[in-house]
Amino acid sequence: MKESPKEQDVQHRLLQEFRSDTFSQAYYRVYCILSRGMKEGDISFPLQELDTKLWSALNLLGLPSPVRIMDFGGGTGETMEPIYRKLDALNKQMIISVEEPHKGSLTEYMKLIENIGKASIDITYSGLFQDYYGHSVQDLRVMKAYPQQLQDRVLAVHVLYHLTSIFDDPFDPYENMKQAISAIYAILKPGGQMVIALHNHAVSLVGAASLKCTEVFFPPKLANHKLLFEVWQDLLLNGGIADVINASFTTFKATVQQDEVVIHVVLPTLAEVGTAVSIGCFNGRCADQSPFDERVVQFCMDYVKTDGYKHGLYLDSEGMWCYPLKTNYITIKKSANE
Ligand SMILES: C[S@@+](CC[C@H](N)C(=O)[O-])C[C@H]1O[C@@H](n2cnc3c(N)ncnc32)[C@H](O)[C@@H]1O
Repeated sequence: MKESPKEQDVQHRLLQEFRSDTFSQAYYRVYCILSRGMKEGDISFPLQELDTKLWSALNLLGLPSPVRIMDFGGGTGETMEPIYRKLDALNKQMIISVEEPHKGSLTEYMKLIENIGKASIDITYSGLFQDYYGHSVQDLRVMKAYPQQLQDRVLAVHVLYHLTSIFDDPFDPYENMKQAISAIYAILKPGGQMVIALHNHAVSLVGAASLKCTEVFFPPKLANHKLLFEVWQDLLLNGGIADVINASFTTFKATVQQDEVVIHVVLPTLAEVGTAVSIGCFNGRCADQSPFDERVVQFCMDYVKTDGYKHGLYLDSEGMWCYPLKTNYITIKKSANE
C-alpha cells in the first residue's frame, strides 16, 4: 500500500510520542485514540435517546430511589454520564461509588457527579481491581474501598481485560476472573445485577494483531495469550461464570444473559487505526511503570496495513478508515435461592 505524506507524518509523530512513555502512559495514549474512534463511529453517541444496549442492560427504571451504583474501572465517567443524566431527568436519586486507578480520570469522574443534581458520591477508590481480591468486607472498609451498603448495580465496562497479563507468573486467568467477579458479586444486593461490557477480541482485528505481536516478540507467551482469550470466552461469553459463582455463593442464584452489538471505530489515518488496535497488547499492563516498547505500536501499524482487510478494515465514502468491534454486554443477576 502506497502511503500518503499525511500517513507518514502522523505515524512519525505518534511513534515519537510513545518514545519516552511507560507502559501505563502508553496505555492511556492508545485509549484516547480508540475512544475518539469509537465516538466518531457510534451513531448513538451522545446517546440522545438512550436507546442503547448499556441502558437496557442496566434495567434501572423500576428501581426505587436512591439507586446505588458501583463502577469498577470507571475511567472519567463519560460512558455513564448520559445514563446518570437520564436518571436525573427522571427524578431518581443516585449514590455512586467508583474504583479507578488513574487519578486524573477519577478526579474527572468526581467532578461529573458533582454536576448532576440528583447524584451523590459514596466512595471513590484510586486503586486496582485486584486490590479487592481475597479481602473481607471489613478489610475493604478499612481501605475505604467498600461502598456503604449493598449495591443495586455494579459495572465493569471494558475493564476486565486488565486483570491478567500474559507475563504474570504464575499465570492463572481463570482464577483472576473468578476472584474479580466474586468481589463484584459480593457487594451486590440480592435482586441486584452486574453489567460487564467486553469487546470480543478473539474474533477481531485487535485480537489478531495482538496475538501476532506476541508470537513475533514474545513467542514463549503465545500459549498464555491464547488461554486468556479462551477464559474470556468460556466464563463470560459462554456464561460459565454462573456455575463458578453459584458454587461459592450458595444462598444466591446467579443467572447470566448475553447480548452482542457491533460498533465501527472510525479514524482518519491507518497510523491511528494501528495505534488503537494495539490496545490488545496492554492487557494487565495499565499500572506497569516499566519503559514502553514502542515496537508494539509500530508492529500494529504495519499489521493493519498488511492484514487489516482480512479482519474487516475498510475505507468509507468520506475517506475515513473503519473497523468493526464486537461488544458483548453480559448481565449477571443475583437472586435469593428458592
Ligand atoms: C477502557 S477504559 C473504560 C473506562 C470506563 N469504564 C468506560 O467505559 O468509559 C478501562 C479503564 O480501566 C481502568 N483500569 C486499568 N487497569 C485496571 C485495574 N487493574 N483495575 C481497575 N481498573 C483498571 C483504566 O484506568 C481505565 O479507566
